[in-house]
Amino acid sequence: MIVQAVKWVGGVDGFLELVDQRRLPAEFVKLECRNIEALFEAIKTLAVRGAPAIGVSAAYGLVLAMQKLTSSDGLQQGLKVLAQSAESLSSSRPTAANLFWALERVRRKAEEFAGSQPGATSQELQSAGRLLAEAVLAEANAIYQEDVEMCRRIGQNGETFIKPNSSILTHCNAGALATAGQGTALSVVFEAHKKGKKFTVYVDETRPLLQGARLTAWELKQAEIDVTVICDNMAGWLMKQGKIDAVITGADRIAANGDAANKIGTYGLSILAREHSVPFYIAAPSSTFDLDINSGAEIPIEQRAAEEVTTFAKTQIAPDGINVYNPAFDVTEARDIAAIITERGVIENPNAENVSEHLR
Ligand code: MRU
Repeated sequence: MIVQAVKWVGGVDGFLELVDQRRLPAEFVKLECRNIEALFEAIKTLAVRGAPAIGVSAAYGLVLAMQKLTSSDGLQQGLKVLAQSAESLSSSRPTAANLFWALERVRRKAEEFAGSQPGATSQELQSAGRLLAEAVLAEANAIYQEDVEMCRRIGQNGETFIKPNSSILTHCNAGALATAGQGTALSVVFEAHKKGKKFTVYVDETRPLLQGARLTAWELKQAEIDVTVICDNMAGWLMKQGKIDAVITGADRIAANGDAANKIGTYGLSILAREHSVPFYIAAPSSTFDLDINSGAEIPIEQRAAEEVTTFAKTQIAPDGINVYNPAFDVTEARDIAAIITERGVIENPNAENVSEHLR
C-alpha cells in the first residue's frame, strides 16, 4: 500500500494531516497542522518535504489561513490575508518550484472568484469570506487530485526505462512521501514492479538528512521491492563495476533549458553516470518546470543550518565552531540528462526547444 503523506481532514474548518518525515523510519507518526505557522514550521524542518508534497501542503496552508477570517471579514480582507499568507509560506523553502506554482495557482483562483462577485451587497460580501475559503479549498483539492494522477502517469511513462533484471540507482526521496500520489522517480519503480519486472534499486543514503536511507529505503521495503542502501560516496565504484544500469531521480525545479535542481549530490551522480555511460533520468511533473528562468544557474539554492552537517543522529561529529557549507540542492545540466519523464510523456535529450514544445 502506498503511504499518504499529505491529507486534508474535514471541510473549510478542517486541518492538514502529515506523516512526520523527521521521525521515519523509527516511528510512523502523524502531525496535525491547524494553522499556517505550524505548517510553515513543518515545511521548514522537513516534516513534509519533496517538491510536489510541499506545493500541495502550501495550497492547503492557504485554507488554514482563511480560517483566521471572522464573520465580519469580507472578500477584500480575505484576499489580503491570502496574499500575506502566500508570501509568508513562499519564504519557507526557496528551491522547489511547486511551492510557488501552487500558491500562485490558489491565489489566482481566489482572485477570479472575487472578480465574479462584482455587484454583491455588503451583507453578501461578508458571507463571501466563507465562500472564498470554499473556493480556496476546492483549488487545493484540485491540486492534490491532479498530483495523484500526475504521479501515476509519470510512472507509466517511465517504467520502460527499467529493463528486466537491471539495477537502478536513486538519490534522496522522490516517492509517495514526497508527493500527494505515488511519487515521481519511485512511481517509475512502482509501475515497473507492478508489471512483474525483476530489478534491484540501490539507494544513496543522501547526507546530511538521509532521505534515501530513511525514507526511500522504507518505502521500497514496504512495497517489497529489492532495495540496497549505499553511502553517497559508493555510487562511482558501483558504476565502475557495471552494477548500475540507470539512474533515476526526481527534481525540485527544472529550468526552461532542461537543467534540473535536485537534492545535493545529484549533480555528482550525473557526472559519474556520464563517465560510465549510464543513462540518467529525471522524473518530475510539469509543475516542477520554471519557464521563467533560462538555465539552472538562475535556480535559487537553499542553504541550510550547519548543525545538519556537524551532527549525526544527534551526536556531534565535527569540532565546535567549525565552518560549514550546506547547500540543500545542486543542478544537473540538461546535457547529462538522457530524458525527463513527465505526466505528459518523455523529453529525450532535453533542451530549450523540446522542453517548450513538450509543455505547450
Ligand atoms: O530537501 P528535500 O527532502 O525536500 O529534497 C527533496 C528532493 O530533492 C526530491 O528529490 C525532489 O523534491 C523530488 S520529489 C518528488
